[in-house]
Amino acid sequence: MGDASKAGHEPKIIAFACEYCSYTAADLAGSMRLAYPASVRIVKVPCTGRADAIMILKALEEGADAVFVSGCQPGDCHFLKGNARAKAMVPGVKRMLAEIGLHPDRVEFFHVAASQAQRWVEVVEEMTSRARRLGPNPLRTGGGPEYGPAAGSGGGEGDRPAEKGSAS
Ligand code: FES
Repeated sequence: MGDASKAGHEPKIIAFACEYCSYTAADLAGSMRLAYPASVRIVKVPCTGRADAIMILKALEEGADAVFVSGCQPGDCHFLKGNARAKAMVPGVKRMLAEIGLHPDRVEFFHVAASQAQRWVEVVEEMTSRARRLGPNPLRTGGGPEYGPAAGSGGGEGDRPAEKGSAS
């Protein structure tokens, strides 16, 4: 994907946000009038344990440039292990993306507590930055593979999925 096709690209990002924490943080960010990119569409889920790989892949198939799941801090999940399960699911989704030629950085998991409005802003900025760097989702634009041997990247070390944010 050439840089020209990325220029002026306003990404579409889907966030699966737990209603007990991250969704509330997003609401708080709005109440505090914190500025952040308007690129994100929030899907409220009762717990991130309800966000499965199919939902993430479906969002990408329908044209999202990036998808993230945002849940309660470790130990704070109202359903005990929903956040841990969601966090553990995301690396598998990244591997699936790599296999079909999509960059694994298009998907991520974050912990954002209800009081962490500023953290929510940072997460949205991080995913927006990634989506801008990667450019439009080739599934939407009809482009070819952007990752792996077929894309010419070779899947080398420099193309490994970003670890940043996955453990935060
Ligand atoms: Fe928030 Fe489970 S209740 S991630």
